[in-house]
Amino acid sequence: MNRRDFLTIPNEGTVKPKVVKRNLPIVSASTTGYPRDYVRHSWVLIEDAHAWLVRDALGFYAVDASCSHLGCMIVFDEDSFSCPCHNSIFTTEGTPVSGPARHSLRFLMVDLDDDGKLMIRRDRTVSADDRFIA
Ligand code: FES
Repeated sequence: MNRRDFLTIPNEGTVKPKVVKRNLPIVSASTTGYPRDYVRHSWVLIEDAHAWLVRDALGFYAVDASCSHLGCMIVFDEDSFSCPCHNSIFTTEGTPVSGPARHSLRFLMVDLDDDGKLMIRRDRTVSADDRFIA
């Protein structure tokens, strides 16, 4: 059997390599503005980072806006997160309480970039009670 015979299946044509797609993060880091730009108890959707940036009494944290069920964008509803696709509800700590989602939301690292602006790192997760103090 020569190489051509090996790569050819009778009546099927040439064998093609299988392409595997991977889900990559939307961005690894996204700059969002200076800490002074955010008042306490604010919830702001940072679309570039696909995350909610929150400033509470203790500091900053970021919640991945991707629902843990199938990835739709979650919305913040004063005391919970909800997903409009299949109606999953999450506590503000990211725990699913109703709907088809079984996994918690991801909390993303908040840091400062070289210019002193807040930066959300999609490639680094933290626990729900971690705060970035700036
Ligand atoms: S994608 Fe959010 S509940 Fe299904």
